[in-house]
Amino acid sequence: MPCFFLRDYRSTAAASLQRAPSGQRAPLFAALALFAQFALAQNEAVPLVKDADSIEARVQGCVTCHGQGGQGTSNGYFPRIAGKPAGYLYNQLAAFRDGTRHYAPMNYLVAYMPDRFLHEIAEYFARQRPPFVAKEVANVGADVLARGRALVSAGDPQKGIPACVACHGVGLTGMDPGIPGLVGLRPTYIVGQLTRWRVGERHAAEPDCMKRIATRLSDTDITAVASWLSQQVAPKDPSPESSNLVRMPFACGSQQAVR
Ligand code: HEC
Ligand code: HEC
Repeated sequence: MPCFFLRDYRSTAAASLQRAPSGQRAPLFAALALFAQFALAQNEAVPLVKDADSIEARVQGCVTCHGQGGQGTSNGYFPRIAGKPAGYLYNQLAAFRDGTRHYAPMNYLVAYMPDRFLHEIAEYFARQRPPFVAKEVANVGADVLARGRALVSAGDPQKGIPACVACHGVGLTGMDPGIPGLVGLRPTYIVGQLTRWRVGERHAAEPDCMKRIATRLSDTDITAVASWLSQQVAPKDPSPESSNLVRMPFACGSQQAVR
């Protein structure tokens, strides 16, 4: 099987650099520098893979940032991807490839990957069940945590905000095929994603339910949900719940039509 990923992506990135108009080179260099930094820091943690043509070998470029089993790393912005529904993971990889979700290192890594390969990677990480990494202590007051808990479990009917658990699952482990688990995510990452939705930088398939929700959350609400969510412990079985469209308060394009 042709090995799309194992080709040295430093040379892929170098090729992108040559093609990029000069105005776009600064972010490219920044992305490469960022990557080099993490690759160096994490190298010892990455075991050698014996079979170079296995999926385990092909995802080695991912584990420097997402952890060996996709559990995330100590860096607050690198998300856990293990155990999220395969449909959700595929949608994100396709969004990075097609440029509708932006994070330079991710965009370059998947830029030339065919659908078949993105599905294979998505299914691989969806199957993983690595232990959860240590939680960060939330540096916020009890009132903020209480607001976070209320929003996640009951929403805020006055502001038209539904309970997050209605879609993300009572154990916050997500719902097949397109809704991610929120347990095990760090506050910086959660704040980043909700803010991006609110300002229109992150999109999902229409109707984009998360845009509707994020635009109703204030800055304080975002801090509150992120802090509370980051303190939760995953249930014993962190698998996503099975699809339940009836329970969902809003329609979500990415739940109904996973490509
Ligand atoms: C340089 C570090 C880095 C590398 C290498 C990397 N990622 Fe990522 N990845 C990130 C960051 C940071 C994000 C969050 C980006 C954002 O939305 O701002 C992310 C986001 C993702 C997401 C979406 C997560 C979610 O819950 O929405 C998926 C899926 C993903 N990466 C898979 C991969 C795969 C597969 C590979 C290997 C082909 C890979 N990543 C390599 C840093 C990296
Ligand atoms: C109507 C269903 C629904 C509700 C209610 C809902 N979400 Fe979501 N959420 C989704 C879907 C669908 C996605 C995935 C969108 C995509 O494909 O990118 C998502 C994605 C997310 C993500 C991105 C996770 C990641 O790994 O990048 C965060 C964070 C999030 N939701 C937070 C919340 C919070 C906080 C609430 C409650 C205030 C909430 N959601 C309520 C459907 C919902």
